[in-house]
Amino acid sequence: MKLTLPAFDDFHIHLRNDDRMPIATSRLRMGGVIRGIVMPNIVPKSVDDAESAIAYVGRLKEVEPNFTYLAAIKLSPSTTEQMIIDAVNCPDVLIGKQYPAGVTTNSENGVTDISSMYEVYGWMEKYGLPLSLHGEVPRTPVLDAEHAFLPILRQLNKDFPNLKIIMEHISTAETVKTILELSDKVAATITPQHLVLTINDILAGRLNVHNYCMPVAKTEDDRQALIAAIKSGNPKFFFGSDSAPHYRTAKEAGKSSPGIFSTPVIAPLLTSIFAENDMLDKLENFTSKFGAEFYGLERNTETITLSDEEPYIIPDEFEGIVPLCANKKIAWNLAK
Ligand code: DOR
Ligand code: ZN
Repeated sequence: MKLTLPAFDDFHIHLRNDDRMPIATSRLRMGGVIRGIVMPNIVPKSVDDAESAIAYVGRLKEVEPNFTYLAAIKLSPSTTEQMIIDAVNCPDVLIGKQYPAGVTTNSENGVTDISSMYEVYGWMEKYGLPLSLHGEVPRTPVLDAEHAFLPILRQLNKDFPNLKIIMEHISTAETVKTILELSDKVAATITPQHLVLTINDILAGRLNVHNYCMPVAKTEDDRQALIAAIKSGNPKFFFGSDSAPHYRTAKEAGKSSPGIFSTPVIAPLLTSIFAENDMLDKLENFTSKFGAEFYGLERNTETITLSDEEPYIIPDEFEGIVPLCANKKIAWNLAK
C-alpha cells in the first residue's frame, strides 16, 4: 500500500550547534519533516533572544536550506519585555521555551522558581508568544517529576488564561487527563519514544542508555494512554519528536546524557507505529494539522509518499549517533 501525506511538522527538535549539527540537520528531510521548532539549549550559549535565534537559524540554513526552522528562545528570569517583543516580531522565532534547572541536557541555568517568571509570562500573554514547557520539577524523584509539575501547569492556565501553553513530550496517563481538563490554550506534544518504550526498555535486565531520555518513559498504562490520546483525535495532542542527538561514545561512556535521536527515521517509524496501533487514519492530523493550527501556521503543501511494500531496517547508527529503534525492522518506509 502507498500513503501520500503532507510532509511532517516536528514541533520539538534538537539540532545542536557542534559537529552533531550537520549530522542531524542534513537528515531532517530524510525523515519526511520539512518544518519544525528548533530547541534553544545549545552550547556554548543558548538561544536567548531574537538576535541569537536569527544567527542560529542562519547556521542551520547553511546545512539544509530547504526546511522551515522556527526557533525557540530560552526563557529565564532575566528575559526582558523587549526580548519578548523582539521575539514576537521576529519571523524566525515561534515560542519561548522554559527548562527546569538541571533536569536535562544543557539545562543547568534553567528556572528554579516559577514565581520568578511571572512577569515574563505576563509579557508573553500580552504580546502573544506561546510558552513551551519542559514540565518536570527539579530535585523530585525522577518518576514523579512530571506528576509534580501538573499543579503548576493548572495554575499557569488559570493565571494566564490567554497564554498558549505547550506541555512538551508528555509521558503519563495523568498528564493526558490534565491536558484534557485545561482550556483549549493548552496543548501537548507526544514523541515516538513515549509511544514505543516503557521504563523496562531502559532498566529491565541490562541497562539501555540509548532508551534514556527526559522525561523517562513510564509504564505500559502510560504508554497506552498516550496512544489513546492520539486515537481520540483530539487536536490538543500533536507531534514533537524531542529528537536529541548524543554520540554513542558519550551515551556509553558512563554519566549518559538523556536524549534519543529520531530525526532521520521520523516518517517511516511514526507511520509504522500508527499502523501497528491501528490509527493510520490519525497520522496526518497528528503530524501536519493540529500543531500548525495551534500555532496559527499555514499547513504544509509539499507531500511525502510512504509505502509498506518493502520493510525498512532502521540503521544501527548515523555517523556515530544511535537512533530510536536501531536495527529494528519496521513495515513502512518513504517510497523511493
Ligand atoms: O532527553 C532529553 N534530551 N530531554 C530533553 O528535554 C533535552 C534533550 C537533549 O537536549 O538532549
Ligand atoms: Zn527537548
